[in-house]
Parts: sequence; structure tokens; C-alpha cells
Amino acid sequence: MQKILIDGGVSLSGEVKISGAKNSALPLLMATILADGEHRLHNVPDLADVRTTCKLLRELGVDAQMGRGVARVTNSGVSNCEASYDLVKTMRASVLCLGPLIGRFGQARVSLPGGCAIGTRPIDQHLKGLEKLGAKVQIEHGYVDASARRLTGAQIVLDMATVTGTENLMMAAVLAKGTTKIKNAAMEPEVVQLAEVLVTMGARIRGAGSESIEIEGVTELKPARCAVIPDRIEAGTLMVAAAITNGDVLLRGVHSEHLAALIEKLVEAGVAVAESPDGLRVKGPARPRPVDVTTKPYPGFATDMQAQFMALMVLARGTSVISEHIFENRFMHVQELKRMGARIQLKGSQAIVRGVKQLTGAQVMATDLRASASLVLAGLVARGRTAVHRVYHLDRGYQRLDKKLRRLGARIRRSRARPPVTIR
Ligand code: EPU
Repeated sequence: MQKILIDGGVSLSGEVKISGAKNSALPLLMATILADGEHRLHNVPDLADVRTTCKLLRELGVDAQMGRGVARVTNSGVSNCEASYDLVKTMRASVLCLGPLIGRFGQARVSLPGGCAIGTRPIDQHLKGLEKLGAKVQIEHGYVDASARRLTGAQIVLDMATVTGTENLMMAAVLAKGTTKIKNAAMEPEVVQLAEVLVTMGARIRGAGSESIEIEGVTELKPARCAVIPDRIEAGTLMVAAAITNGDVLLRGVHSEHLAALIEKLVEAGVAVAESPDGLRVKGPARPRPVDVTTKPYPGFATDMQAQFMALMVLARGTSVISEHIFENRFMHVQELKRMGARIQLKGSQAIVRGVKQLTGAQVMATDLRASASLVLAGLVARGRTAVHRVYHLDRGYQRLDKKLRRLGARIRRSRARPPVTIR
């Protein structure tokens, strides 16, 4: 097991290129199930979750290889419609193969994901939608068993704007007979990119990016050729890294429109954010102002940026309130930040953060992907050394964040760690 060691106190400066978005790459890779032939996906980030998805595709009989940011997927017929527990337990997004498998082959057997560190995360909306499209869905022996002759278009009203739910149902509906309408659809940029790529494959989709998506089923699709959009959460994390260290960093290859809610909050906190043809330049204040945030579905403030923004607010000149309204247990970083000297009080779905002048380095433990990022950010400014354990969480969703931070001047490195003792 590895840990990340950070000696805090360096103001970051320089330029950094943003990698492709994990949460776009995963559904796009799953979309390759929908068409035979040679698919090419560019700007694919080199991440543990991407490797897991390629492994899953290979288990289904689809050859998927990653190299130098390009995923080469050769689909010459799926030989197996089952996603095993062993894979799904390591990555919940494996559930994204359900839609394309049932849509194209009329059958899918996918291990039902359990709860995870950030919440219970049911998939009832995915299943309800598939049933609306005519699939017979059963849960047996821990697996979702779905079957249908050919799905038939229908109107699906989601109870909440679920991201992977919308993606799964869109992929199921593209080959269905007739027209499907998904109401209360998720509007995230990753949903929009999936729709756009499906359209280039021959699908008929309108309205992606709005609350209502209409899909007219076709009988066949062509292989995909696309480049994954930049990762708005990686970009946001690096923006906070610049802000928290009173640094001056230029982010290249970002889509700033995907970051509007975060930029607004950073500016309120006193961070200078300027867009130029070269990219997005972020300059941190001597000390941030306190700002309240509430997580919401896109275009609201992303839950995936909550932990990182909290790291910034921990050092603010006053009190801020951070409300988490997407996941019920996404405050696991709080106890770890407190070990570094943060003053945070949890009240249900709210964290009351009383800013302190200085954090101190400590041994801390990552519990999930974004919580890990928040601890790394805190380590960048803490006095002395911070050791972040369980780095594998970070590697699931950030392409060598430590390397990118080092290039910006941070004193950060990896080292082997003995497994930390979990009881405190
Ligand atoms: N929900 C249900 N039933 C469902 C689906 C969702 O109750 O059938 C609830 C969830 O429990 C949650 C809310 O609806 O309370 C929204 O969850 P959503 O389904 O939108 O989340 P997701 O699709 O499982 C994706 C991202 C997450 C990101 C969320 C929210 C991928 C692969 N994952 O998850 O990313 O936090 O949307 O934006 O796209 C991450 O990258 O760190 C990460 C967790």
C-alpha cells in the first residue's frame, strides 16, 4: 500500500494540463457494447476505474486496450452478458453495462452494487426505467437479472436526476423500438457528451443537457470515435490547490463553462479566476473569505467538489456552512481534517466550518476518492508533514495528482506504507 507524503507551505505556480474526465470515459467505454467494430476513444485518463472498465469489457468478450491516452476497443460480438460481483464490488460504475447489454442483447446479469463509503446509492431508478422500457427485472442471489425481447420506447419520469441512471437508460433506449422520453434527466456535461457520441454512432437523441431527453430508437449503431471532455472535477481540485496555497496556476484544456458554479464560489471566497485563450488562471488570496455552499445536481455546485472546497473553507477568515444534499454520508473527510486542526461541527447534512489560521500536518486516512483529494489539499498548506494513507482511492479518479502538484512546486511524494491500523 502506498501513502502520499506532503511537506506543506509552498505556493503553487506554473501550468497544468487537465486530463480527460473519468465520469465521461466510463459510460463512453460502456457504450462500445452497443456496436460491433473498432472504437477509438482519445483523451482517456489513465486511472484505476478506467482499467477496471476495460477489464469488465474483456470479460464480456469485447477487446479493450488502453495505451497513451487512447482506448482501442474491438467489439466483434459480446460472448457473455454478466458483470460479476468481483468487478462490481471494486467499481459501482460497472452498473453502466446494464443499459447497453439489455438494449442490444435483451439480457444482462449484473451484480447489484452494495452501499459505498459516501452513501447507500441505490439503483432503483435505473431498474424502474428499464422496466418501463419493457424489461423483466429480477434481483436474485445478489444479481440484477434483466431480460427482454426488444425494449420498447416509453416515458420515464425519474424521481431524481441520477447521472448514471440517465446514462444507463439512454444507452438502453437507443436501440429500442419507438421513442423514449426521460424526464427529470441529469444535465451533467458527462451525460451530454455520452448523448453526443451516441449520436455520432447513429443514435437519435434530442434534449441532452436539459431535463427532458428524447430518444428515437434505431436498429444499429456504428463504432465510436471521440475525445473525452476535460475532467471538471480534476480541474476544480487543482483550482482549489492554487487557491489554498495562495498560488498562481494556469489550467490548460478546461471547459470553464462546466465549472461555473465552482468559479462563482471561488470568486466569492476572494480567489482571482481569469479566463484567457491559454486557459484558466487561478490566483489564491492571502486568506479566503468564508462562503456557504450547497451541493446540487448540475449546473449547481458539484458534490464531487464538496470535500475539496471544505479544505479551503477550513482556512477561511470566518465561518461557512457546507450542506451536502446529494449523498447522505459524504463527510468522511471531516474527522481527518479535524486531526489536522480544522474546526468543523457536523449537524446532519451540514458542516459548520470555523476557519483557522493554520493547519498542522498529520497522518490521515483517505476514505473515498474526493475525500482523499481534500486531505491532499489540506496537506499542501499544513505546517509540517502530512501523510495521506490509502492512496488507492485517489488513483481511482485522478491521473497522478501528486505528479501534477509536484510540477507546480509542491513538496509531495509517494512512499510505501504499512497498512494503517484502523481503530483509533
Ligand atoms: N439515487 C437513487 N436511486 C437511483 C439512483 C440514484 O436514490 O436509482 C440517488 C443517489 O443515492 C444519490 C442521488 O440519487 O443520492 C444522485 O446520485 P447519482 O445517481 O446521480 O450518482 P451516480 O450516478 O451513482 C455519479 C458520479 C459520481 C457523482 C454523482 C453525483 C459517475 C460514474 N459517478 O454517480 O461521481 O458524485 O454522479 O454527481 O458518473 C466521483 O467521481 O467521485 C463520484 C462519486
